Amino acid sequence: MTAAEVCVVGVGYVGLIQAVGLASFGQKVVCVDLDVRKIEMLKKGVPPIFEEGLEETLSTAIDDGMISFTADIADARRADLFFVAVGTPTSERTGNARLDYLEAAVSDIAEIAKDGAVVVVKSTVPIGTCAGLQLRLDRDHPEKRLHIVSNPEFLREGTALKDFFNPERIVIGGADEAARERVKASYAAFADRGIPMILTDTSTSETIKYAANAFLATKVTFINEISDLVETVGGDIEQVARGIGLDSRIGPQFLRAGPGYGGSCFPKDTLALATIGRRHGVQQQIVETVIRINDSRRFRILKRIEAAMGDKLSGKRLAVLGLAFKADTDDVRDSPAVDIVHALLEEGAEVRSYDPVARFAVDHRGYSQCDSIAAACEGASAVLVATEWADFKSFDFSTIESVVERRYIFDMRRVVDVEAPWAPRWDIERIGSPMQRATA
Ligand code: UDX
Repeated sequence: MTAAEVCVVGVGYVGLIQAVGLASFGQKVVCVDLDVRKIEMLKKGVPPIFEEGLEETLSTAIDDGMISFTADIADARRADLFFVAVGTPTSERTGNARLDYLEAAVSDIAEIAKDGAVVVVKSTVPIGTCAGLQLRLDRDHPEKRLHIVSNPEFLREGTALKDFFNPERIVIGGADEAARERVKASYAAFADRGIPMILTDTSTSETIKYAANAFLATKVTFINEISDLVETVGGDIEQVARGIGLDSRIGPQFLRAGPGYGGSCFPKDTLALATIGRRHGVQQQIVETVIRINDSRRFRILKRIEAAMGDKLSGKRLAVLGLAFKADTDDVRDSPAVDIVHALLEEGAEVRSYDPVARFAVDHRGYSQCDSIAAACEGASAVLVATEWADFKSFDFSTIESVVERRYIFDMRRVVDVEAPWAPRWDIERIGSPMQRATA
């Protein structure tokens, strides 16, 4: 094993991006993961996830000898900096983030790390976790002065590498100043570019992560409620969003109305924040309301589809375009599209779906995943657009007019081109707009 300065434990989404990012800054990175199959794939330069530019960046790091992969943490004993990016899934029972993987990883690191090493928590963890981990390290390994630092990530799936290289801030929380400086040094390239670095305590750092995601989830939920209003009273939700977003105190982002937020972070982190609030007797009422509204949104959409189709979905065939929780990712975790597929099947409908990348494992009578938009729309009484893939924006629906049962689109993402020459021949319903009936 060559000398290594930095180790990343857990090469899932966050860990792998962190590892290739640091490697491309010229830092030697050893990646450790218990999943031997994943390690073998990564050694060959095959990323286990779909992410723009990742395969190329990974190959370059491997060819340059800047990154290595192992299932044995002992191979990283020369590192003085360990980034831990293991999963913290939600416990079904308590709603809290489960910390067993993180605690096990930190214990393993503590066994092999050298005196003074810094252990950086990248995983999203309940407020107070890092302070608790520090107490454990001090108790279990008094012979080594190991330091826990919190350094949350703000990467979006689909643009994760771009986000890594263009952060808007770096947050570093820790009790020990030298340890914080060590982490800061690994981001020297950003400091040189004048990117704000927030050096703080661990609780503040942990809270920043939850508050950021909860705020963004609130923003999305807010525009979704306004969009429900616009559907009824009339108006144009995109102009409303633009009109408020141009106020720099509000900002233009995260104001796209849609089927509700999903994915691996917002649902999990809002729930965790609500749970933390309750546990400490400081109920997070806004966040709790946001969760409730977002959960009920999928049901609301179903009702609208039912109303447009004459109330009975049973026995009808529907096409669902898009399965991923948003475009440019293959991730279907907490995807509104997947929930809607399940709900339609429960209503007794037949569902055919198409997604350019995402697949989901479900074996249900009456459900099939197709290889093209046209195949999914075969015999459909409704075409539901659930993910904002570019393919759907530019799609010429006249090409499927002869295969559908009824020319009806329900666009949950407002991506379909309603000005297109074919549009007057279709009934088009969109989130944030009243039904636009066919006129031709
Ligand atoms: C999010 C955060 O953005 C990121 O900083 C954090 O590290 C992880 O969680 P991600 O889950 O990849 O990233 O997706 P994001 O692009 O933020 O979208 C989250 C959800 O909100 C998606 O379901 C998306 O469709 C929805 N959304 C987002 C909207 O409905 N409207 C918007 O305007 C923006």
